[in-house]
Amino acid sequence: MLYIGIDLGTSAVKLLLMDAGGHIHKTVSRTYPLSLPAPGWSEQAPEDWLRQTLDGMAELTADCDKSAVAGIGIGGQMHGLVALDADDQVIRPAILWNDGRTAAETEWLNTAVGRARLTELTANIAFAGFTAPKLLWMRSHEPENFARIRKIMLPKDYLVYMLSGVYSTDMSDASGTLLLDVRNRCWSAPMLDICGLAPEQLPTLHESFEAVGTLKPEYAGALGLPSSVKIAAGAGDNAAAAVGTGTVGSGRCNISLGTSGTIFISSDTFGVDSHNALHAFAHADGQYHLMGCMLSAASCNSWWMDILDSRDYAGQQAQITDDMLGCNSVYFLPYLMGERSPHNDPAARSAFIGMSMDTARPQMTQAVLEGVAFAMRDSLEVARSLGLEIHSSKICGGGAKSMLWKKILANILNLRLETVETEEGPGYGGAMLAAVACGEFDSVRQAADALVRVTGAVEPDPALSTRYAQRYRQFRRIYPALRPLFSAAD
Ligand code: XUL
Repeated sequence: MLYIGIDLGTSAVKLLLMDAGGHIHKTVSRTYPLSLPAPGWSEQAPEDWLRQTLDGMAELTADCDKSAVAGIGIGGQMHGLVALDADDQVIRPAILWNDGRTAAETEWLNTAVGRARLTELTANIAFAGFTAPKLLWMRSHEPENFARIRKIMLPKDYLVYMLSGVYSTDMSDASGTLLLDVRNRCWSAPMLDICGLAPEQLPTLHESFEAVGTLKPEYAGALGLPSSVKIAAGAGDNAAAAVGTGTVGSGRCNISLGTSGTIFISSDTFGVDSHNALHAFAHADGQYHLMGCMLSAASCNSWWMDILDSRDYAGQQAQITDDMLGCNSVYFLPYLMGERSPHNDPAARSAFIGMSMDTARPQMTQAVLEGVAFAMRDSLEVARSLGLEIHSSKICGGGAKSMLWKKILANILNLRLETVETEEGPGYGGAMLAAVACGEFDSVRQAADALVRVTGAVEPDPALSTRYAQRYRQFRRIYPALRPLFSAAD
């Protein structure tokens, strides 16, 4: 049997075709535009996601045995607000996970409702990218749009709905709405009241590995696929990536260096970060996880390469020699879109600090790679402060293709970083969820044990880690010093 895994990302949708042995037969991707209509705002047209996914599926399955395609599973960018009206039309562009317009609504939730009450109801506090503050923003800034909402959904749920006609979501993605009672895996009635929502405006909850429906006959016909193709509930992209790297069960860790940067720690038991810096979410294997999320990770590097007017990532990084590691006096704050974990500050911005007359391009490129790794360490330190012992992690995402960046990360985090055979994190996890939904495996754990193979590792070097620990102490002082300037800026 064959399974289609879909990674609905921020810059592109990536699709892959996997067989029951976990081998990838083909991958394709399709891009779509990202709109930044105001500083800190971030939107996309859900119709673009659908059109490009269908186009990608046609190419993906063009020369396979179509009758063998059994299931589809999607890992999608989280938190985005997709709102449909009574005629299933998209009411306004989706407001994405890295959109920072909801500072006032986030503040109101965390103070008027209160962090303690929010944590009791949802296991989390409000962050600007979460879905609930977006609903409050829409209610006060676009009341005519808010009044038209018949259904709200998350990005990958829009694809599931359009492909199957079934209105569903899964526990991992629903966790990021701030409307889910994460511990009890059900919608929180008090949170719906706070956001002015009726239960029927929300999708039905499923575990990620459950089949929610089958491909609509019109799409099955157009693609030449069987109409029995099952569609799994799917997962948020980080939970799907964790599945794809075998990060299931207690105390395992996955780092994703994509547009966002995340550190994901799986757990067999429910737990909340007492500092509320890490998200306490449901996992796609039926259990739980803690996660720190940086809003700009590999996107910092692509932004910097745009500034340099270069596409030669490897060439720029080749100028950073081993003797330069741990000795850079230039620092970079990676907060191009504000920051989520651990600062929860939509007003935060990026900065280069520490340049002198002898600073050249390589030191600044190095500072960008290091700044992302230092900011990732901020979240790792929170996890360590909770008593979690993490000595190694899987790593995936576009940034993980750079050996230099992996080396910098391994040493700044002082972690062994393992790469897996299939680096397509969310897409591979999506295909695995589809395989479980179709009965190929009894559980996500069983699928992960059978399919995920570690192929390499980067070990931290004690001397370099010590040098970076000293640099990290400096890095930690920069954001608190600049914060008053960020919040005072227009
Ligand atoms: C996680 C988050 C991001 C997006 C990126 O909380 O907001 O990782 O899911 O697609």
